[in-house]
Amino acid sequence: MSDKPQSVLITGGNGNLGRLVAEKLLARGQRVVKFDIPGTEPATVHANETVVSGDIRDLDLLQQILAQHRPANIYHLASLLSGSSEADLPTAWETNATASFNLLNLAHETGVGKFFFASTAASYGPVDLEPMPLDYPQWPENMYGATKVAVERMGVYFKQKHGLDFRCLRFPLVVSPFAPEGAVSAFPSQAFKAAFNGQSFRFPVAESTGISTLFLEDVIDSIVNYTAAEATRLSRHVYNLHAYYLTAGMVALEAAKRFPGFDYSFEPIAAVDHLISSWPDVVDDTDARRDWGWQPTFDFDQSAARICELLRAGAAGNE
Ligand SMILES: NC(=O)c1ccc[n+]([C@@H]2O[C@H](COP(=O)([O-])OP(=O)(O)OC[C@H]3O[C@@H](n4cnc5c(N)ncnc54)[C@H](O)[C@@H]3O)[C@@H](O)[C@H]2O)c1
Repeated sequence: MSDKPQSVLITGGNGNLGRLVAEKLLARGQRVVKFDIPGTEPATVHANETVVSGDIRDLDLLQQILAQHRPANIYHLASLLSGSSEADLPTAWETNATASFNLLNLAHETGVGKFFFASTAASYGPVDLEPMPLDYPQWPENMYGATKVAVERMGVYFKQKHGLDFRCLRFPLVVSPFAPEGAVSAFPSQAFKAAFNGQSFRFPVAESTGISTLFLEDVIDSIVNYTAAEATRLSRHVYNLHAYYLTAGMVALEAAKRFPGFDYSFEPIAAVDHLISSWPDVVDDTDARRDWGWQPTFDFDQSAARICELLRAGAAGNE
C-alpha cells in the first residue's frame, strides 16, 4: 500500500451525476476513482483522479478495482435508466441488480466505509397519498424501479447483518441542462435544451402531467452532504427528497419565456404519461431535513435561470 490518502470510487463516474459528484469531491481534496463504460472517458483528467473503463457486470474487474484502489467510500451511480431498463430487461437486471449485489458484497468483504446508492422515486408504484410519506409501500410498475427496490433491500441487509454503512437517497425527477437519453423523466431537461438550440419539442406527456422535482446542483450537494453526515445522525436507512412540483406545462411556459419562439406541442405517449403521472407529486422529506439538514436551494424559477446560464456557457456540450 502506498502512503497516498485513500480514494473514493464513483461507479457511473462519467455520467451526468457522477462527474459532478467527482468534481465536488476533488474540490474538497479527495482522490477519486471514476469507473464507467468504455467510450465515456472525459477529455481531461484531474491530477487526483483515476479513470477506469469497463463493465460493472464484470465481477473480476470489480474485484481488481477494489483490491487495487481500496476505496474508503463508494458512490454507486452506475445504472441503466428507466427507458433503457424497460427496453432490455435482462441487461437491466444484470447491470442494476446483480452488479450492485456484487459491489455490495465486495464492499463488505474489503472493509469499505460508506456505500452511497442512488435510488429513485420510480421505486414507488402509483401513489394516492400526497405528500407521499417515506414509508409508502414500494411496488413499482417499471423494471428500473424494481431493480432499485431490490438494491435498497440488499443494501439494508448488508447494513443490518454485516455492518456496511449503506446510505441511499431516492431522487425524484432531476431537471438539468443535461438530458440523459435513457430516462423517461428527462423531458424537462430535453425541452430546455431544444428551446436553447432553436428546435421544436414534443412533450411525451400531457400538459398537466407533473412530478416531484429537484434541480441538478441540489442533487449533487445532497449526495455529498448526506454521505459526509455522521452516522449517528441518520435515523433512517433511506431518505426521500423533494424541492417542488413541476408539470410539463410549467416547463413549456418557462422555456418559451426564456427562449422566445420556442415551438412545442404535447403529444402524450400513453405508457410514459401513465408512468410519470403515477409517481409522487409531492414527497415528504421531513426526515432528511431533520436528520442531516437537507434543504433544497433551487425553486423552479431559480432552476430554469441556472439551466439557461449553463446552456449559454456551453457547459452542456451542445455545440
Ligand atoms: N438523473 C435523474 O433524474 C435520476 C433520478 C433518480 C435516480 N437517478 C440515479 O442516479 C444515478 C446516476 O444517474 P445519471 O442521471 O447520472 O445517469 P447517467 O446515465 O448519466 O449515468 C449513469 C452512468 O452509468 C454508466 N453505466 C451504465 N451501464 C454501465 C455498465 N454496465 N458498467 C459501467 N457503467 C455503466 C453509464 O455509462 C452512465 O455514465 C443512477 O443510478 C440513476 O438511476 C438519477
